[in-house]
Amino acid sequence: MGAGSFYVTTPIYYVNAAPHLGHAYTTIAADVMARHHRQRGEAVFFLTGTDEHGEPVAHAAAAEGVEPQELADRNAARFLELTPQLQASNDFFIRTTDPDHVARVQAVLETVRENGYVYEGTYEGWYCPRCADFKTEQEIAEGNTCPIHHIELTRENEQNWFFRLSDFQEPLERLFDENPDFVSPKSRFNEARSFIAGGLQDVSLSRRGLEWGVPLPWDPGQVAYVWWDALLNYYTALGVADPDGGLEETFWPPDFQLIGKDILKFHAVYWPALLMAAGLEVPRRLFVHGFLLMDGEKMSKSLGNVLDPVEVVERFGADALRFYLMRDVPFGADGSVSPAAFDARYETELANEYGNLAGRTVAMVHRYRDGQVPRAELDPELAEAFAGLPDRVAALVDDGAISQALDEIWERVRRCNRYVEERAPWQLAKDEGQAGQLDVVLASLIEAVRALTVMLSPWLPESSGRLLRALDAGDESWPAARFGAGSVGTVAELEPLFPKDPGPAGG
Ligand code: MSP
Repeated sequence: MGAGSFYVTTPIYYVNAAPHLGHAYTTIAADVMARHHRQRGEAVFFLTGTDEHGEPVAHAAAAEGVEPQELADRNAARFLELTPQLQASNDFFIRTTDPDHVARVQAVLETVRENGYVYEGTYEGWYCPRCADFKTEQEIAEGNTCPIHHIELTRENEQNWFFRLSDFQEPLERLFDENPDFVSPKSRFNEARSFIAGGLQDVSLSRRGLEWGVPLPWDPGQVAYVWWDALLNYYTALGVADPDGGLEETFWPPDFQLIGKDILKFHAVYWPALLMAAGLEVPRRLFVHGFLLMDGEKMSKSLGNVLDPVEVVERFGADALRFYLMRDVPFGADGSVSPAAFDARYETELANEYGNLAGRTVAMVHRYRDGQVPRAELDPELAEAFAGLPDRVAALVDDGAISQALDEIWERVRRCNRYVEERAPWQLAKDEGQAGQLDVVLASLIEAVRALTVMLSPWLPESSGRLLRALDAGDESWPAARFGAGSVGTVAELEPLFPKDPGPAGG
């Protein structure tokens, strides 16, 4: 990590259709990281945005009979709207049709050409217009189809400009061999490493005959191949957001780039090669997550198997969706999602485990101590259960293991519920002679709930805010995550954090 700074990105989303849960997933994961690093006092820059050029968008617009810009504007607006609905705290939102981005892409490509990595040639081979991907022999499924979209590949034969990817065979091998954490999880590292070992071939830098894109500065009759335009957003955004160069100086290169497994080759192979060719530093880490599956298929608008994130958020709130996705699908692996599994997590874990722990702890302080948290020693048994927890959570998040980090915290939520059952404060309250013991139990539980909530706040930003306000304990910084760091005085009334039946969508 850069000294005290953290730059995290999501892929930029195609605007050929409205956002779905798969898009919300990466944005939420990146947001958890961004919020956690802010808690640790680091300067954070969190970037997301939309990918608006190329065939995926041009074809979708043609199918609707509208101009690509019109489709892009309409769908980009939906992504822009979804981002705050998810409670994403992004610092900037880039659109690749922004003229400033376009000019900056042109400048980088010009540098790449001046550095000698561009030549004119003829591309002959297979291409998937939905991936916008020139497929190598190993990437073609049965009957010349795309393994991701299950559509027939097209045979392309066009004269265009090429990027000398093959020149980066050795530099990329070195990058991987010297940086075993460059790509995580390890299986994805190995996949990218063996793609490189298979021998890199030069790849098109531009497309002829496609108008929807960034014109090449030296040959405006051709547009940049959409992946170069798209990948460069991670770099141009810092300059677009701050033309004085301050952001670039603080944040380049990215610390963590989150991507889905379908776009590994572009990010782990093309992207560092392009940056090297332009004389720019390469990202520190790529983290590759799996697919959210419904009925065994990757969720996608075109397959018609989507769970609508907007509906879920309207009915249950952003926290419920964030929690579900981060908890149910181990980050880095594929996982099935379903409305039934969502309901089960909401009910069992958010409402019954965490919501109830917070609710009954606060209620007991009201019932037995008039809302005043007793000044008492903290129970060493709970202190023991929390020992070293913030460090472990931080180390896991640093490694991209955000589901495991959440598991660690959740184990303590459960531990606290067991503690309530074991100590049975309602029994202690019946016996004046046990008043001191009841003080210890109540003070310890309030402190545990407070510390847990500080740690959980990147996953549950809305409800953690409400709960910490009720405890009049606003400090969400990382030092406050330690059990024993707080001193709650009075507690306010607390409405249920996760009501059992929040009612129908929108109502
Ligand atoms: N525009 C390119 C990315 C350019 S980044 C320089 C693109 N866009 S996309 O909209 O098709 O996909 C964006 C991201 O969403 C990818 O990381 C992809 O893996 C992710 N997901 C799309 N569907 C998904 C699921 N069903 N599950 C999890 N993530 C999925 O590719």
